[in-house]
This record gives sequence, C-alpha cells and structure tokens, in this order.
Amino acid sequence: MSENAKSAVLSLGGKDYTFPVYDGTVGPSVVDISTFYRDTNAFTYDPGFTATASCESKITYIDGDEGVLLYRGYPIEQLAEHGDFIETCYLLLYGDLPNVSQRKEFETAITYHSMLHEQMTKFFSGFRRDAHPMAVMVGVVGAMSAFYHDSTDINDPQQREIASRRMVAKLPTIAAMAYKYYAGQPLVYPRNDLSYSANFLQMCFAVPCEEYKINPVLSRAMDRIFILHADHEQNASTSTVRLAGSSGANPFACIAAGIACLWGPAHGGANEAALTMLGEIGTPDRIPEFVKRAKDKNDPFRLMGFGHRVYKNYDPRAKIMQKTAHEVLGELGIQDDPLLDVARELEQVALNDEYFVERKLYPNIDFYSGITLRALGFPTTMFTVLFALARTVGWIAQWKEMIEDPHQRIGRPRQLYTGPTHREYKPMSNR
Ligand code: CMC
Repeated sequence: MSENAKSAVLSLGGKDYTFPVYDGTVGPSVVDISTFYRDTNAFTYDPGFTATASCESKITYIDGDEGVLLYRGYPIEQLAEHGDFIETCYLLLYGDLPNVSQRKEFETAITYHSMLHEQMTKFFSGFRRDAHPMAVMVGVVGAMSAFYHDSTDINDPQQREIASRRMVAKLPTIAAMAYKYYAGQPLVYPRNDLSYSANFLQMCFAVPCEEYKINPVLSRAMDRIFILHADHEQNASTSTVRLAGSSGANPFACIAAGIACLWGPAHGGANEAALTMLGEIGTPDRIPEFVKRAKDKNDPFRLMGFGHRVYKNYDPRAKIMQKTAHEVLGELGIQDDPLLDVARELEQVALNDEYFVERKLYPNIDFYSGITLRALGFPTTMFTVLFALARTVGWIAQWKEMIEDPHQRIGRPRQLYTGPTHREYKPMSNR
C-alpha cells in the first residue's frame, strides 16, 4: 500500500485529529485509524465491519458495484473458462499461475498426499449416522492437528507449506468419507490416476460392486464449482480463519474454525437453504406468495440465494453457475427440472420487483449451485461441505499471508459497553 497525499481529519470534543490515508492498487482507499484510540480515547463503531478493512491483502479483489471478482488479478470468468482448480490453488497460494514444471510438481504433491492416516478413518464411525456432514467436517479437520504434529509449528515456513498442501490434498478425502458415512456406504480411497475433481467424484459415488465411469462433463462442472468457491476476500469464514490464526493457533484448528463459520445459512449454508426454499415454493404459481413474505419486515423469511454484503450487482459467479447448471442438466438428459423452472421464474420476478431493485438484491452464487449439485447426485446436506472443500485453499492462502505479514497482531476488537456499571455482589438470601 502507498500513503496518499490526502489525510482524514476527524473532529471530536472540539479537537481535530489527523489520520493517514492509504491507497491500494485498485478499490477504495483506507483511513488508518490504528492510533485512533490512543489519540482520542474513543473507539470506532462498525457492527458487521461494513466499513472496516481488517488487513492488507494481495489475494482476491471484489468490485461489488461492477460485479467483478479477481483472484490474484485474474477475472473469475477466465479462470473458470480456461483454467482448472489445481492451477487456481497454485495461483491463490503462490501468487502466479504455474508453468509446466511448477504445475507438475504441485499436482503430484497434492495427488500423493490425498490419503488419510488410516487411524483417522475411525473417527467417522464415532459420529451418529444422522450427523450433519458439516459437523463431521469440523470435527475431522480439527482432528488433523492430532495426527500431523510435524506440520503444526506456524513459525516454521516449511511446516506451514506442508500443512497447506496436506489440507488441499486431504479435504476431498475427508469430505467424501463424511458423505459415504452419511450414505451408509463403504469408504472409497483416492485414486492417483484421476484429476482432483474426478477423484473426488469417484470417492463420493463409486461403490465396490461396480466400476465407476468418470463423466468428463460432470467432473469439469465439479472442478468449475471448486474454482468459483475458492476464495472471496475477507468474508465471515475467512475472517474467522485469520482471527483464529492471529492467536498462533495451528493451521488445522484455524481451518476447522472457518468450516464452523461457513456452516451458517447467511454464509455457506445458503446453498442448502436456497434449494430447500425452491423445493418449498414447488411451482412457479406460488412465487408471488414467497416474494411477498420476503418483503414483509414482520416475517423473518428471506429469499435464499439473493443479496450479498459486497455485490450490489449480479454476482459474477452466479452467471457461471447458471451456465454450469444447464451443462450438467443437459449432460444428464434432465429436460425438465421443476426447481430450475421455479429458479428461473423467481429470478425474473425478483429482478423486476421494486423492493429487490431498490436494495440491489441480485442472485448470488448459491442460487444456482444447489440445482447443479443436486443434479450431480449430492444430497443437500453435502452442499456446504463442497463449499468448505473448495474454500479451504482460499482460507489457507489468507492464513499464510497473515502469518507472513509483519504488521500482524492478535485480532482483538473492542466494544461499546452498555451493560450495568459497578454493582455490589448480593448474597442469595437478598436477591
Ligand atoms: N431477501 C429479502 N430481503 C433481503 C434479502 C433477501 N435475501 N437480503 C437482504 N434483504 C433486505 C434486508 O431485509 C434489508 O432491507 P431493509 O434495508 O429494508 O431493512 C436490505 O435488503 C439489506 O440487507 P442486510 O441484511 O442489511 O444486508 P447484509 O449485507 O447484512 O446481508 C446477506 C447480506 C447475504 C446476509 C443477505 O442478503 C441474506 O441474508 N441473503 C440470503 C442468504 C444468502 O443467500 N446468503 C449467501 C451469500 S453469498 C455466499 C457467501 O458468500 O457465503
């Protein structure tokens, strides 16, 4: 970042305070208020961090008004069209697209680290059969720190590197095993002759009694879904990973914290919630009833898959996701998907409704991802797991960037206290 010639002046209690302003390479400038409390004896107040940059980052850029998403400068549309998930991982982790030998080395390392320590597979049977796979993910990924002790020292760059590659390599195996356990089927081990996404599909859908045939259109769609979800700047789960990491927690624990945060319906859980909502709507004639509910301030119902904290325009990922949904349905010969009909109609109704237009509420990535994932054969409970699998590389890239940032300190927000002031303890008999 570079210091801007401008500065910000704030008047408080009749006194002026000056703060430096910094520019990034693109996007809004920031006012550096790190000395604000020391200088003014006041805190800034920003619930939900809507106007607060928590860090400096070189990884992902979003222009929410224009509907732009860049990974290390590359538009998401180009990566989804011409790239694949493995090179997207390399790009996010190391800052550049790999050349031939870099790609070979990275892909081989990821492929040959995809097996889990055999004892880890025992964890799955410790969960109830009806456990949500996200609960299993939080537990098993957190438990990696109990198995891979040789990569938990965050101060050793080599250990950080090993932990990073282990997680990118093993998350698909853990996710697939969470699914197999949930489905009541035997666990399927990774196959090193397959690509990252094809291997993931075979670990989810192969059964010992017959050969599993890879469908290149479906594995390409899976890969694209992973690319679209790989990183998204300082969202709630990424901020959670950074905050957990700022205390010096080990990388596996930090990623488990990110998975826990992602689970919520306002974040990664929205893809599951969006598909459930489309199912509840059922037929296009019921759309007005649900749109009316979404607009009613006394009804907590929201149109899931609509709106975004940052995008005040069409989410660029949603456009690619919509195309991918059509490709997958076409490949599987699904001519008429009633939920797709509901989705298309709902999108049109909302895009033309004053309430949604005024608030700039557009479909987000979760609106079409559920339809695609369901067509690929995943139950709704797996949707957020797939998001977590893909986002792991983004979380790791952000975590590594934070650890390597010389300005990094433990994250410690402050508060506006409105509770009781001093009170004397009362014995039970006087309460
Ligand atoms: N349906 C109906 N009204 C909505 C919706 C919605 N989906 N989203 C926002 N609004 C309204 C909201 O009621 C408020 O209206 P008003 O100004 O009259 O009070 C206005 O739009 C602004 O909403 P907000 O809650 O202040 O916006 P936010 O930035 O805090 O929330 C959001 C963003 C994504 C949590 C929210 O839009 C939402 O709950 N959407 C549905 C859940 C969803 O699809 N989440 C996935 C996000 S994309 C994937 C990811 O990044 O994880």
